[in-house]
Amino acid sequence: MSALAHFSKTLAPKVFIKSFGCQMNVYDAERMKDVLAGEGYGGAETIEDADLVILNTCHIRERATEKVFSELGKVREIKEARELRGLQTKIAVAGCVAQAEGGEILRRQSSVDLVIGPQSYHRLPDLLARAGNGARVIETEFPPEDKFDHLAAPSQQAIRKRGVTAFVTIQEGCDKFCSFCVVPFTRGAETSRPLAAVIADVERLTAAGVAEVTLLGQNVNAWHGLDEGGTARGLRTLCERLSDVPGLKRIRYTTSHPNDFDAELIAAHADIEKLMPFVHLPVQSGSDRILKAMNRKHRRAKYLDIVQKLRKARPDIALSSDFIVGFPGETDADFEETLDLIREAGLASAFSFKYSPRPGTKAAESGEQVAEEVKAERLARLQTLEIEQRTAFNTATVGRELDVLFEKQGRHSGQIGGKTPYLQAVHVDGPESLIGQVARVKIISTKPNSLAGELV
Ligand code: SAH
Ligand code: SF4
Ligand code: F3S
Repeated sequence: MSALAHFSKTLAPKVFIKSFGCQMNVYDAERMKDVLAGEGYGGAETIEDADLVILNTCHIRERATEKVFSELGKVREIKEARELRGLQTKIAVAGCVAQAEGGEILRRQSSVDLVIGPQSYHRLPDLLARAGNGARVIETEFPPEDKFDHLAAPSQQAIRKRGVTAFVTIQEGCDKFCSFCVVPFTRGAETSRPLAAVIADVERLTAAGVAEVTLLGQNVNAWHGLDEGGTARGLRTLCERLSDVPGLKRIRYTTSHPNDFDAELIAAHADIEKLMPFVHLPVQSGSDRILKAMNRKHRRAKYLDIVQKLRKARPDIALSSDFIVGFPGETDADFEETLDLIREAGLASAFSFKYSPRPGTKAAESGEQVAEEVKAERLARLQTLEIEQRTAFNTATVGRELDVLFEKQGRHSGQIGGKTPYLQAVHVDGPESLIGQVARVKIISTKPNSLAGELV
C-alpha cells in the first residue's frame, strides 16, 4: 500500500519539513521533498496545514536536542487540534537526533509515528506506509544499499523554485572521531559519491537554471569518488570536471578539514576560475595542547601553513573557521592562542561555540570541564574579535568592483540581492532579469552582515 492511501480525506497530502543544524540537513530536506513528491505530496505552508510533519534534527550541541522535544510538544498540540477537525497528521523525526536518540524520542513523545536516520531517506515512502494509526516505526540502521542510488531526482520545476544556487552532497560521514563530536556516530563512516553521479546531478541543476553549486560533505575535501574508469579521484579533479558543465558559473565546497587539504586542492584555487575564493576551514582551537586533546590530527602550524599557501595561490582568498571555546582543560593561555590564531590567519569570519559535552564522546567524560561563566566570557571575547575582523574585511571591499551572482529580489522593490565571490551578501538597485546572472558591482557601503553597491 502506498503512503498516499492513508490520506483518504485529503486528495493531495502535504508535508512540512523543519530543518535544524548544518547545510547537509537543508540538502536532505530537499531530497525528502523530492522522494515525497513522487508519492503525490505537495508542500505545506504551515504545520497546521500539513498531513505529514518532519522535524529534521541536529545533535551537535546539547540545546539542539532539547529544542527537538520542545518543537515536538508544539507539533503534538497542532496534531491534536487537527484531530478535532477530523484530520490525521503523521509526525516523523529525521536527522541526527533521530539517529542518535531514536528510542528515547519514541519513549518521550507518544505522538511521534516515525523515527528515521539520515541514511534511510530513500525508504521514506515505505516506512510512512507502515507508520501511523498507532503503528510506530523506527529505522536507524545503516542500510547496505547507497541511498543516493535510490533517492528520487528533483523535477526541473522543483529545482527552478529553489533558486539559482544549490547544494550537492558529494561526501558523507566521518572517520576522524574528534573527541567532542557526535557526527561519526550520527552520519556513519566516510563515503564518497562517484564522479559521474555528481556531474549528472550538477548537469540536472544547471539545465534548470542553477548557476552556483556548493559541494557538501562533513569532510568535503576527503572526497575520493571513483571516476568512470574506477580510479579514486580528489576534489580538485571533481572541480575541474565540473568547470566544464555548461551554465555552471560558480563552484564552492564546504566543510573542509585541514588534514585533507592537499597541494592539488590549494593549486586548484589558482587554476580553476569558477572555484570561488572563499574557504571554510575549521580549526577549532589555536592551542596545540587543546588540539591534541580534541584528537584533531592537525596542529596550529599546519593550519597556518595551509592558510599561507592558499593566500599564495589566490591572494584575495577569504577564509572562515569554526571554534570551540571552553573545551575541557582549556586555560586562559590556550584561549589567548586561539585569539592569536584568528588574527594571524586573518580570518574574514568565523562560527564559534561553547563546548557542549555530548553523551558517548570522549571529552564528555573529562574531569576538567570548564565553568559555564568562563565559557561565556571567552565566547564573547572571541565573537568581539570576529566581528572586528569581519567588519574590517567588509570595509576593505568598499570602493572595489566585484562580480556578484544575483540570487533573488531585494527587500525593497527595484532591489536585487546576490553574493560576492567571498560569500558576502550584496544589495543593489537593478532589474530582476539579472537574477541568475553575474554582474559587476561597485561596493559603496557596508553593514555588519551585508554590503550595498551599484551596478557598474
Ligand atoms: N567536520 C567539520 C565540522 C562539523 S561539526 C570539522 O571537522 O571541522 C560543525 C561544528 O560544530 C564544528 O566545527 C564545531 O566547531 C562544532 N561542534 C561540534 N561538536 C561540538 C561540541 N560538542 N560542542 C560545541 N561545538 C561543537
Ligand atoms: Fe566531527 Fe571531527 Fe569529524 Fe569534523 S572531523 S565531523 S569535528 S569528528
Ligand atoms: Fe547537526 Fe548532524 Fe549536521 S549533528 S551539524 S545535522 S551532521
